[in-house]
Amino acid sequence: MSAITPANGPVAVTGASGYIGSHVVIALIKRGYRVRACVTDQSNPDKTAHLIALNSGVYPGRLELVTANLLVEGSYDEAFAGCSAVLHVGSAMGYGNANNPRQVYDGAVNGTRNILNSVKKAGTVKRVIYTSSFSAIAHPAPPGYVFSEKDWASDNRGNDRNWTPESVDTNGEVAYAMAKVATERMASSIAAEDGRFDVISVCPLVVLGPLLSRAHDLAGAWHWFLGRMLAGKPCGRGWQHLWNIVDVRDVGEAHALIAESERCTNGMRYQLTATDRSGEMNAMELHEQLARLFPHLAVGGAPKGYDEIIAKHGKPFDAPRAYSDRARHDLGLKTHAIDDTLFETGRTIIELGLIKPAYKQQLQA
Ligand SMILES: NC(=O)c1ccc[n+]([C@@H]2O[C@H](COP(=O)([O-])OP(=O)(O)OC[C@H]3O[C@@H](n4cnc5c(N)ncnc54)[C@H](OP(=O)(O)O)[C@@H]3O)[C@@H](O)[C@H]2O)c1
Repeated sequence: MSAITPANGPVAVTGASGYIGSHVVIALIKRGYRVRACVTDQSNPDKTAHLIALNSGVYPGRLELVTANLLVEGSYDEAFAGCSAVLHVGSAMGYGNANNPRQVYDGAVNGTRNILNSVKKAGTVKRVIYTSSFSAIAHPAPPGYVFSEKDWASDNRGNDRNWTPESVDTNGEVAYAMAKVATERMASSIAAEDGRFDVISVCPLVVLGPLLSRAHDLAGAWHWFLGRMLAGKPCGRGWQHLWNIVDVRDVGEAHALIAESERCTNGMRYQLTATDRSGEMNAMELHEQLARLFPHLAVGGAPKGYDEIIAKHGKPFDAPRAYSDRARHDLGLKTHAIDDTLFETGRTIIELGLIKPAYKQQLQA
């Protein structure tokens, strides 16, 4: 059995300082794990202070910071030595054009290969949990289609001229989706060949919920666009279709539950998406919810071009529809209510000073 408990030894988290990685660390520390939190740079307090604060004694676990880089072979050998599990959350991301599509693709595939080489060298790791994405699941499908873990982004691509190896150099979305598909498949096949550990993937969709650091202000991420709406700007992402929302705290919790689950076996995957229809909304519905939760703000609404979409199609596309049923039933994941998720996203963005909120009073003055 490759399920673990805190008694099996320390666990390591890659990308520990990031938005999702930080919540994975919290879920583990709450359960009493000794966590090796892997970061690229220990000198930046925005990336480490919120992690170090977890050692204050409130939680039973203990955190140790370790410096490592995914792109350097062997970089995680020391971090993984003696570990029972690795939660591999980190990846080269395209936020704010920090990496071009090719770097995102190569970073995911080569970085994960490096991680698995270090896992093999450690010899003690029983389970690897890989943070993939719903991008590895979503494929062209009719409106209203309900996606599940059986779906792969590579399905139904016969007529898709963008789904080609060449697009990895030019198309950020395709490069990201192809990277996640290739990495999931590569990881479970390396694990099957090795036989000493298994790899289970987590596929989150629109991740919202509390930000813990100013470093979580990721230009182009879903929560970044929500913040801009609270600053009075129009919805800049996902207004042609549905925002299908999962709470970042639930994503963190799901990683920890998978580490401890006897039901998980190599190659399994869990999509983390809306709990039910309450977590699926188009941009105008999102605007209404935010206006209700933040009544003192003039929340931004429809972007330019929205009227044309409505005129052409009648309404935004009824996609993607998907639910976290498998994670809730197999793992016992308890999810946050959507109001709490939306409110905590906005509250933390404002409290961290990441936007200038569009206060109605100031606008009227
Ligand atoms: N946010 C979403 O909506 C969403 C949805 C689906 C899937 N995901 C997946 O979730 C994971 C985390 O993403 P996020 O949104 O939380 O973004 P994030 O905050 O930018 O986290 C990415 C992490 O990757 C680490 N990283 C990047 N390049 C690295 C390198 N060369 N070596 C070591 N670490 C490196 C960063 O570490 P440092 O900070 O130490 O540099 C950072 O903590 C990613 O795999 C992403 O694909 C995110």
